[in-house]
Amino acid sequence: MSAHVLLVEDNPEFIRNLEEILTDLGHEVRTAPSCAGALLAAAGWLEVALVDLKLPDGDGTSLAAQLKDASPDCEVVLLTGHASVESAAAAVRAGVWAYLMKPLSTPDLLATLDKAVRHVKSQAEKRELTRRAQMAEKLAAVGTLTAGLSHEIRNPLNAAALQLTVLERRVHKLEPTVQRPLLQPLTLVRDEIRRLEHILQDFLQFARPSPLTLRPTPLKGLLEKVWAFLETDAERRGVRLEFSCERAPVLPADEDQLRQVLMNLSLNALDAAGPDGTVRLSCEDDAHHADFVLLQVDDSGPGVPEDAGPRLFEPFFTTKANGSGLGLPISNAIVSQHGGQITVGRSPLGGARFTVHLPRS
Ligand SMILES: Nc1ncnc2c1ncn2[C@@H]1O[C@H](COP(=O)(O)OP(=O)(O)OP(=O)(O)O)[C@@H](O)[C@H]1O
Ligand SMILES: [Mg+2]
Repeated sequence: MSAHVLLVEDNPEFIRNLEEILTDLGHEVRTAPSCAGALLAAAGWLEVALVDLKLPDGDGTSLAAQLKDASPDCEVVLLTGHASVESAAAAVRAGVWAYLMKPLSTPDLLATLDKAVRHVKSQAEKRELTRRAQMAEKLAAVGTLTAGLSHEIRNPLNAAALQLTVLERRVHKLEPTVQRPLLQPLTLVRDEIRRLEHILQDFLQFARPSPLTLRPTPLKGLLEKVWAFLETDAERRGVRLEFSCERAPVLPADEDQLRQVLMNLSLNALDAAGPDGTVRLSCEDDAHHADFVLLQVDDSGPGVPEDAGPRLFEPFFTTKANGSGLGLPISNAIVSQHGGQITVGRSPLGGARFTVHLPRS
């Protein structure tokens, strides 16, 4: 099991040897000769730190406490030349995972490191499970509420849309001079009603996800349809739309729902890319899982803000003035129903890459 390991030691030879061993074992290793360097190297990255007790700018025990403060999920192994009861007690208070005496035996060190890594990973897994359970609860609560509310809103909204059509007809019959100043507000009201209808549709879909109808679906054809839908929109916004699909697998899928997923991801990508930006839709085999196919939506925008992280898929999380924050949670639910998942990463185009992992069967 590999991890992000930070070595904090001021003995360059020791660092070099250990770095080599750990890198060979598949760990990603960073090194720092001092407390200050360690804090910099650890930020947002650290999983396990091996820390010497005596460092040029401070002692390892207080560094351990600072590292745990900055990354509460990491574990620290202290390395020391001479142990005393006081230093051991201080180490425990600082939340140190283990305390090893020098000279170190490599097998001991590796066994301790391995335990620490397993511990960190299992904690991370537990946290992820708790997060998912909380999200499922939230989804259920939100679902019930929105279903009720949406039905209440639908009738008056339909009535308003109908009256607006009547109004539009009457206005179009008026003299041009009387008609002209009325047209713009009418268009605005029409646009707002459309927006509400769209939100309502999202809410309902979210509250009552429709069951999947699985049919053999050629992914290339699907991507082409999405592409055709987006073309005018992209052109109007000045975004370049690219498409690549070398493999053309046919999967059991609910085509309509999958198209909605790709539309949601692509519309987000168009928003993010902005004028003169690029959005690319692609389909490829999963190099890591022969049983999966990947559908990717890349954009050249600013990327997903780091602190947004897991919140992206929470209902109503949005950073847009007009967003409802339902696009991603709906997409995620549809893809999960297919037995797949959506992941987010950095795109070679510079912005975000949303990947839909779909099982072949
Ligand atoms: N390609 C992307 N690049 C950067 N940020 C993104 C991207 N896609 C999504 N996001 C972020 O995730 C948030 C949630 O996206 P989601 O599609 O769920 O809702 P939305 O786009 O805000 O509203 P809507 O319900 O209209 O889709 C967005 O507001 C945005 O902050
Ligand atoms: Mg969206």
